[in-house]
Amino acid sequence: MNIAFLSLAQTPPLSVPMRFFLTAPLFGIAAGLLLLFGGDGVLDNRWSINTLLVVHMVTLGVLSMVMIGALQQLLPVLMGVVIPRSNMVSRAIHLLWSVGTLLLLAGISQHLPILNRFGVGLLALATLLFVGVILYALARSDSKHGTLIAVATAVISLLFTLLFMLWILNSSGWLAPVVHPLTNLHMSWGLLGWFMLLLIGAAYQVVPMFQITPEFPIAVRRFLAPLIFVGLLLWSGSDLLQLVWMGWVAIAILVSALALFAVVLLRLQLQRKRRLSDVTFTYWRVAMVALLTSTVVWLVGYILGDSRWMESAVVIFLMGGILSAVSGMLFKIVPFLVWLHLNNLYQSAGEWQGNVPNVRQVIPERYSRWQFRVQMVSLGILVVIPLGQFVDQGSRYLTQAAGIAWIASFTMLLVILLLARSKYQSVARALNRG
Ligand code: HEM
Repeated sequence: MNIAFLSLAQTPPLSVPMRFFLTAPLFGIAAGLLLLFGGDGVLDNRWSINTLLVVHMVTLGVLSMVMIGALQQLLPVLMGVVIPRSNMVSRAIHLLWSVGTLLLLAGISQHLPILNRFGVGLLALATLLFVGVILYALARSDSKHGTLIAVATAVISLLFTLLFMLWILNSSGWLAPVVHPLTNLHMSWGLLGWFMLLLIGAAYQVVPMFQITPEFPIAVRRFLAPLIFVGLLLWSGSDLLQLVWMGWVAIAILVSALALFAVVLLRLQLQRKRRLSDVTFTYWRVAMVALLTSTVVWLVGYILGDSRWMESAVVIFLMGGILSAVSGMLFKIVPFLVWLHLNNLYQSAGEWQGNVPNVRQVIPERYSRWQFRVQMVSLGILVVIPLGQFVDQGSRYLTQAAGIAWIASFTMLLVILLLARSKYQSVARALNRG
């Protein structure tokens, strides 16, 4: 791997992303427990309390947690973007985000508006700090790479996600679920803005680097993220102003942009220079196929006016698309960061870097393969849950089975990440003793 361009001097400590990465599987395990013990209706009805809890354990507790952590490390390392007071900022965001999410989950489950208020307040503080720091750092960067605009639009989308939710909760006396028409906008900015744009920005960097593919075409890097952002603005405009034609323009933009991204990435994978297919490669392939499937399923649901198709599309997008890509990314960036930080330590101690474990020693491929298999089982079960309605108690048993698979896959993820961290600590300690 060519590391000449990496900004080693800017690297914040490994603990900056690791505290987020290690917290995320805990929320995943909690979501699995809720699927297992939540009784009937955990995923039966979009507006049930348990569905809302599972959705936010995954969106806030797992996916946003990993993304916020990863961004604080990848921007400085890959793009030379300096984040001021990185360790202190990371601690503050992590604390506010974790406690805010817990309070919100408690408020929703106990139907307590006061807890919702406090939870959302802390999440809003975390968001303002995170978005402020990232935008400030991006504005001072000299880089002209497409990742910059994708990350900027992603974090602005997180602000919109929060703003729509503040609007909704304010009108409901801070009780949730609300069954509010604006929830679709909250959801669209969260899923297609915050998650998707960030994934696109990260992919521009990590896919060519880790999967040894050609670069994304320049036109894609330049225009795709702004196009999706404009699509989301039009989608919001059509909803707020009740303009049907604008809605169709927005759908055409968003569906073709997502499909284009997936097809380009799958093509790049086919053109990769080394015919090696590790678990990250397979995870990203699954993610892109899921992305394509979810756009088709959503479009069918929209045309038929059948919300069940659209709900299935959201499950496939979230658990097949975003979670797969994020898991695949973790299995590459964690060993890479451990290796990079150890390399830095050896270099500054003037020691021979041959003793630094390579990335495959930090997370052995067979561990991540097993985690991948279990996560794919959980995805398969989730996708067929709607079919369970044709058998007596079918949905309930399938939801419980998905819960068991989630608990297993997130526990495996946690153990693998802990092993990687302890590898870092033991090598660093040995260096200090020597
Ligand atoms: C930042 C703090 C957030 C708060 C306080 C929050 C709160 C809520 C609430 C109260 C609802 C239910 C609305 C209703 O009943 O009409 C909801 C729905 C939803 N939220 Fe969030 N949310 C937050 C962030 C996010 C993020 C970052 C995402 C994803 C990227 C997300 C994804 C969703 C989805 C997909 C739904 C629809 C759930 C369903 O239809 O079952 N939320 N959110």
